[in-house]
Formats: sequence, structure tokens, C-alpha cells
Amino acid sequence: MNNVVVANDHGAVDLAQRLIEHLKSRSFTVTYLGVSSPDSVDYPDMAKAAATEYLRGGYAFGVLLCGTGIGISISANKIDGIRCALPQNSYAAAMAKSHNDANFIAFGGRIDYSDEPEAMLDAFIDATFEGGRHQRRVDKMMGLQS
Ligand code: RB5
Repeated sequence: MNNVVVANDHGAVDLAQRLIEHLKSRSFTVTYLGVSSPDSVDYPDMAKAAATEYLRGGYAFGVLLCGTGIGISISANKIDGIRCALPQNSYAAAMAKSHNDANFIAFGGRIDYSDEPEAMLDAFIDATFEGGRHQRRVDKMMGLQS
């Protein structure tokens, strides 16, 4: 599966374009549901659009971006079936996949990351969910959703 859905609000226009270019350079097909202008939009709407599209099926994962990554990741995680990680660096990005089986990764366009966001995205893409005890924890985590 080489399809990825991406959405962003006005706080991450440039970073969204950077990551889309990076995804394309890695041969992913991108469905883009974000905004490319600085005009203000509401991040819950962007999260809902991307999560709804992802849940239609056929996507490897999704990428969400807002100014901090916080609002859009919280919003996405309110939607049943979504596990959206907001990693601090490449290590956390890899763990988000290998331990948490995250199906979305979020970034902040106004955040100074210690690692390049492209490297963080690569770490997420190239990691593999380990299953086993982590599957049990993921199942428990998803069971918390009411
Ligand atoms: C928008 O100004 C900003 O609040 C949003 O992009 C995000 O940072 C929220 O968490």
C-alpha cells in the first residue's frame, strides 16, 4: 500500500509541502486534503477530513500537521480507529510504529525539531510493528475508546 493521506491547517503550510515532496520522492501517492494558504482554518476539520478518508481504506498511513501538531493529533485521536502519534524526534517516530502501531503521524509547522521532519517521517515509515505484547497494549488502548 503506497497511498498516504495528508492534511494540515494554516500553521503548517510549508512543512506540509516539504513532507508531501518527501513522500513522493519515496514513491508514495499522496491524497492531499490540507490548505496551502495562510488563511485561518480549524484543525479539527482537517483531522476529520483526513481520518475519514483514511478509514475508507487503501491507505498505508496518514500525516497531519498544525502549528504545534497538538490540536490536530488530539482531534484525530478522538476518531474511532485512529492512533495518531506526535513524536518528538526520530526515535519516538520509529517507536510510534514499532510499539504503538500508529496509523497517523503528526508534526508541528512552528516547532523546531532536533531531527529533520523528513528523517522523522522516514523513521516512522521504515519501522515495523512488533506485535506480541505490544499488540495486547494496542488492543487495550483502543478498548479505552467509548
Ligand atoms: C492555529 O493558530 C494553531 O492553534 C494550530 O495550528 C495548532 O497549533 C493547534 O494545536
